[in-house]
Amino acid sequence: MWTIWSFSVLLPSVLAGVAAPAADWRSKVNVQRNGFYPLDIVDKLEETTMTSVDAYMTKKIAAGKNNGCTLETAGVRREWGDMTDEQRTDFINAILCLMKAPSKAPKDQFPGARTRFDDFMAYHLTNAGSLHDTIGLFPAHKYFLLAYENALRNECGYKGYHPYMNYDRYTKDPKNSALFNGNATSMGGNGAPDPNYKGLRTSAGLIKSGGGGGCVTEGPFKDYKASVGPGDPVMDNVPKNPLSSGGGYNPRCMRRDINVNAALGATADRAYNLIMKSKDINTFYNTLLTPPRNSSDQYNWGIHTSGHYIAGGDPGGDPMVSPGDPIFYFHHAMLDRLWWIWQMQDPDNRINAQVSLGANGASRKIDLKWLAPDVIPVLEAHDGLGGHGGAFCHVYV
Ligand SMILES: *[C@@H]1O[C@H](CO)[C@@H](O)[C@H](O)[C@H]1NC(C)=O
Ligand SMILES: *[C@@H]1O[C@H](CO)[C@@H](O)[C@H](O)[C@H]1NC(C)=O
Repeated sequence: MWTIWSFSVLLPSVLAGVAAPAADWRSKVNVQRNGFYPLDIVDKLEETTMTSVDAYMTKKIAAGKNNGCTLETAGVRREWGDMTDEQRTDFINAILCLMKAPSKAPKDQFPGARTRFDDFMAYHLTNAGSLHDTIGLFPAHKYFLLAYENALRNECGYKGYHPYMNYDRYTKDPKNSALFNGNATSMGGNGAPDPNYKGLRTSAGLIKSGGGGGCVTEGPFKDYKASVGPGDPVMDNVPKNPLSSGGGYNPRCMRRDINVNAALGATADRAYNLIMKSKDINTFYNTLLTPPRNSSDQYNWGIHTSGHYIAGGDPGGDPMVSPGDPIFYFHHAMLDRLWWIWQMQDPDNRINAQVSLGANGASRKIDLKWLAPDVIPVLEAHDGLGGHGGAFCHVYV
């Protein structure tokens, strides 16, 4: 069962016991900002878009199609830097809890999955095909993220929602950022310098090493061991899994390369152009994954690639087992945010828009197996504000 309704926002008008006036979206959504980060061009676009999101929700509620989801009840996903240290600590503790909770994945297939955290990595390893095909990429990851967020909330007592990483905030000095500086309220530090690590080969060229590549030695996850995989490692010297399926136990340190060169492919102006210049979902999808080559642009990796390699490494940079680094979910929350802002420029026409390159479009279902009980029609995971009986009910601020 999804239990996402335990969260409520105490509006000033509710506290005062008076009827809420017809008001701006800001009276419905709890916005929390850190003045250290000026709003970038996508943040500003999102703020403007919220007015139309509010109008869209008002229509949807009037039509009885919101499945109980309103802007007041929506879970708020925030940028890591906008969260307080207390909120960051609660979130980190919930992950550490998931990293201790016993696995529910089938033992015969995944003897290496020891914890609930590992379960998500194991699912991704085996189902990378359906998670990443043209029809699945956005909605299947939206559901995957929801299942993970629900595990943190329902199994580990987390009260908030999953944060996202706004890539642009990591295009200057990611190693010293609140996300990666390695202190107790960060998501862990950089990997130790590995002189043999030269960078990552991508279809758009080499992303030069950011100076890391070794084991993460600082922060809350310094003792965490990745379990299953590797699947398709992007670094040398990743120990082989004892099973050919990759599902065996292969405990190894988490390696990272916090990489500003990768982040520079995902600046706010690129994200803004992606949203505003993509008039249809195929263009949005192609630009996100493989933008047209541009020889005068040395960071032309595409936002999806950039986001994965801001931390990179093993298991984070391995496309099969990337959820083994908790930063994976920050990246996919950001992609979900960009997709959502794109949809909300024209919700009536864009919510159900599917990439036309794939087969079985609308009849496709998403089955997360041991991660979530409900097998859901793919289009239900296109609707972030009421989809699947209201299980999807989030805003990004
Ligand atoms: C960790 O670093 C960030 C960014 O400088 C800072 O906001 C936060 O308060 C620090 N946390 C601790 C526990 O010192
Ligand atoms: C190619 O990259 C350069 C430098 O970033 C940029 O000014 C130019 O607009 C890009 N060309 C295209 C067609 O996107």
